[in-house]
Amino acid sequence: MTYRILFVCLGNICRSPTAEAVTRAKAAERGLDVTLDSAGTGDWHIGKPPYGPMQEAARTKGYDLSALRARQVAASDFIEYDLIVVMDDDNAADMAAIGPQDRVKLFTDFTSTTTTYVPDPYFTRDFDGALALIEDCADGLLDRLGSRQA
Ligand code: 4NP
Repeated sequence: MTYRILFVCLGNICRSPTAEAVTRAKAAERGLDVTLDSAGTGDWHIGKPPYGPMQEAARTKGYDLSALRARQVAASDFIEYDLIVVMDDDNAADMAAIGPQDRVKLFTDFTSTTTTYVPDPYFTRDFDGALALIEDCADGLLDRLGSRQA
């Protein structure tokens, strides 16, 4: 059965759509069967494509985010997805307020780095740094998933 993962950040225009696209590409490379989506805890950007500078940084590394559109999280996401992967503690708290906390995991928990959250490039302007961390987290997540599916 396909494993379903929802990536969550604040705006759903920088970190979580990048996490979705990067994880999708890496899962395909590994032949892993996953269903992926992303959403934001905020409602400001509903219906919009990922932020231009984020798309540009991702495109440089071969990830196309252009078809993605922002949506807001819903309580039903806890039914639709097996795992909800958040970018920071604020996202975790917002999700834990609408569903079971044990379904919610920090993306950085899947890496061996000491970083405890994915800094928001919308504010830091470090789009390349966010992408590199997201690639690292995605590899760690898929390592975990690969051994689970094996
Ligand atoms: P994200 O970044 O959570 O990584 O999508 C943000 C983008 C926009 C806003 C907040 C976070 N905003 O407040 O507009």
